[in-house]
Amino acid sequence: MVSATRPKDIGKESSVTLAAPARPITRPHVSLSKSPNPQETAAAMASDLTTPILDALSASDVPILSNEAFPSHPSLNIKSALDRLSSRLMVEYETKEKDVIVLTPEGEAIAANGSHEARVFDAVLKAMDGLKITDLPGIVGKDNAKVGQGNAFKRGWIKKDNDLLRATRESIVDETREQLLAVQKTKSLDDSKAVADLKRRKLISLSKEFAFVISKGPKYARQLQKEETDLTAEMIANGSWKTTHFKPYNFNAKGAPTPAGALHPLNKVRQEFRSIFFEMGFEEMPTNRFVETGFWNFDALFVPQQHPARDLQDTFYIADPLTADPPREDPPNDPHLSKAVQPAASGATTDKPLDYQQYWDNVHEVHEKGKFGSIGYRYPWNPDESLRLVLRTHTTSISAYMLHKLAANPRPARFFSIDRVFRNEAVDATHLAEFHQIEGVIADFGLTLGGLIGFMEVFFAKMGIHKLRFKPAYNPYTEPSMEIFGYHEGLGKWVEIGNSGMFRPEMLESMGIPKDMRVYGWGLSLERPTMIK
Ligand code: PHE
Repeated sequence: MVSATRPKDIGKESSVTLAAPARPITRPHVSLSKSPNPQETAAAMASDLTTPILDALSASDVPILSNEAFPSHPSLNIKSALDRLSSRLMVEYETKEKDVIVLTPEGEAIAANGSHEARVFDAVLKAMDGLKITDLPGIVGKDNAKVGQGNAFKRGWIKKDNDLLRATRESIVDETREQLLAVQKTKSLDDSKAVADLKRRKLISLSKEFAFVISKGPKYARQLQKEETDLTAEMIANGSWKTTHFKPYNFNAKGAPTPAGALHPLNKVRQEFRSIFFEMGFEEMPTNRFVETGFWNFDALFVPQQHPARDLQDTFYIADPLTADPPREDPPNDPHLSKAVQPAASGATTDKPLDYQQYWDNVHEVHEKGKFGSIGYRYPWNPDESLRLVLRTHTTSISAYMLHKLAANPRPARFFSIDRVFRNEAVDATHLAEFHQIEGVIADFGLTLGGLIGFMEVFFAKMGIHKLRFKPAYNPYTEPSMEIFGYHEGLGKWVEIGNSGMFRPEMLESMGIPKDMRVYGWGLSLERPTMIK
């Protein structure tokens, strides 16, 4: 960088440079250009430099240099005018770039007043009979005294005599200042060691300057012609198209950015529901398990093994692998595990370890013989059926998994999920083999059915649905169960919007949830409210 600015190049090169706009502070000192003429200064006000450039070219037979012709314009403005003109072939230009050295504000101060050490030396010399060390800051300033004293000692310019400073010579050469003055004048310095030293002392910085060498182009004219962008019927009718100047196509133009990417309507409505849940104090359940065992999807939910929902006609079974392990402890740091049910990191946890074998045995017994006050379904429960893998048919499998986790430390909790479920259905206009379910679960002590109805009213009101009706329904895992209907103002009729209920005691107690804890659950499809909106 520095070698590019050897003194013999300086005269030649510096005349074609224009201080880069990034360092305006150095411009008054470093500009070697003639002082700007008044016309030019006025033009500097105008944003469009095209006319001044065309005028300057007309007055000159040789290429003009932008820093000489327009010293007070930022090179960016000059360049944009040049680009406008060169696209019309009215001018041609070349960019010159040059490494330059500029003074920092501190460098400027030293160039003006001398180095710290020279100022200390001057002060000491002037004192004739020695200068009291403690007087120095008062004379040269605190900063100068601090840095300058050390440097003056190092150079052997002054010496200490008890509490006095004395000069060791009559005069000194302030090399630092000389160097900075040279830099100020030429924007270069032919001593790489000195450059490195001044840079380290933060007295100079290295920069770049740009200038443009501008000449007339093949279509040069004194004035920028108005260019038409459209050929009109009138131009053809009156023949003016023959003399009209048309703007040429710019095949290098980047073109307007095309807006791309949008949220899927389902994702938008999903986001609305998520906000409602979060605002009502719910935590999101980890739903990234599309494949579940029959155990979590059905057995844990007290769905008997002969239930039609478990039929191949209704459920997708996984062929490979066919079966899974029985439910067991999640591996530590399992990403599937929600924060909501992770044991406290502090160790101050009241969690009791979950007994998966006990849970498995309870589910078995509840189905086969009955337990926890339930008389059961009274059929031989087949563990293999429970280990078959299915594409989950509802997100209630996740709710069951989460409620079992909650049994480690039963406490009031609110969980929700919104994710995909799969059903083996004949696909038609209103049925798909996969859809999204919104599901919510509330666990607390002393919950009642009236509370569930009241909650639904608040929840759906947030979605803009204000009239609700509840109809008794049946789910194997809830009792009582209710279908939820909402009045659709647009359609003028009641539409089914969800399914809900209070989870059965034999389901919850199998998990280890205490007898006096109640759990509401409800589910709805995400597609339906999305369609209604
Ligand atoms: N799983 C039910 C469905 O698929 C919804 C539901 C969830 C009902 C929780 C009651 C409790 O429709």
